[in-house]
Amino acid sequence: MEKVSNIIPYYIKQLKDIAKEREIISWAYISIDFLLGYNRSECIINSDKEIGIDIIDRFRQIIEDLKANIPIQYILGETEFYGLKFKVNKHTLIPRPETEELVLWILEHEFNSALDIGTGSGCIPIAIKKNKNVEISAIDVSEPALLVAKENAKKNEVKINFLKQDILITDNLERVDVIISNPPYVLEKEKDLMLSNVLDNEPHLALFVSNKNPLLFYKKIAELSYACLSKNGLLFFEINESFGIEIIELLKCIGFVDIELKKDINEKDRMLKAIKN
Ligand SMILES: C[S@@+](CC[C@H](N)C(=O)[O-])C[C@H]1O[C@@H](n2cnc3c(N)ncnc32)[C@H](O)[C@@H]1O
Repeated sequence: MEKVSNIIPYYIKQLKDIAKEREIISWAYISIDFLLGYNRSECIINSDKEIGIDIIDRFRQIIEDLKANIPIQYILGETEFYGLKFKVNKHTLIPRPETEELVLWILEHEFNSALDIGTGSGCIPIAIKKNKNVEISAIDVSEPALLVAKENAKKNEVKINFLKQDILITDNLERVDVIISNPPYVLEKEKDLMLSNVLDNEPHLALFVSNKNPLLFYKKIAELSYACLSKNGLLFFEINESFGIEIIELLKCIGFVDIELKKDINEKDRMLKAIKN
C-alpha cells in the first residue's frame, strides 16, 4: 500500500469477506479523505504519490477496526450530515440520511424559534441553524451526548442553547414555533433483526423503546408540544415506519390538525408534521 493508487485495491483485498465491494470502496474513500484530505478526483491526480509509513499504519488500523465490525464513523470519530462535519462517539447515534430528509422538510417552513428533543450529536439543530437564522434549543438526557453536541456547535460555528433534561419527567417546555424530535423508536423485539455493527456499537439509550410502550416518547412529546407550541406552531417527528397510523391517531386525539405523513427515500413512512390548532 505504498502509493495512493494501491489503497482501494488493498481495502478490497482485506475486507472482501465482510462487505460488498461498493461499501468497501466507500470506506476507503472516507478513510483517504480523513487521513490524506483527498476527495475522489484528488485521488486520481495524486495516484502516484507515496504514503508515509505512519499513515500506512493508520490505514491498517482502520481496516482492523472495520474487520471488528466497528462503524467507520466511530473509528474516525466523525461523520457528515447535511454537508457539515460532526464529531460522533459511542454516546451519540450516527446521524442517518433519513434525518437529513427531515431537516430538509423542516427548512421549507418559516419560523423564528425551534426546540429539538433528543438531540444526540446535535445534528438536527446545528444543520437548521446553519441554514436559517432562528433561535434554537436542544434537549438530551445524556450528559456525554450533550458534550459532543456542544463541540459540534462550536466546530460548525453556531449558537444553540443545550439543556440536559429527561423529557419523560418534564412538565413544561419553552414556547417555540417548531418542536422536532427523532426519539428512540426501535422496539426491543426488533433487536434480532438488526445488524451487529449497530447493535454492538450504537448507544441503546438512543435506539430502543420497550415493546409494551412503543409510543412512550411520542405521546409525552406531543402532549408537551401541544401545551407549549406557539399558535399554529409545528411539530415534526421522525418515526418507526410501523407506527405512522397510530401516531397520527395520537396526534389527532391531542388536538393537532393538518397531520402529514411523509415517506423517506426508501419509500418507508418516516416523518410526520402536525399543526397546533
Ligand atoms: C434516535 S436518537 C436521535 C439523535 C439525533 N437527534 C439524531 O437524529 O441523530 C434519540 C436521542 O434521544 C435521547 N434520549 C433518550 N431518552 C431520552 C429522554 N428520556 N429524555 C431526553 N432525551 C432522551 C438519546 O440520548 C438520543 O440522543
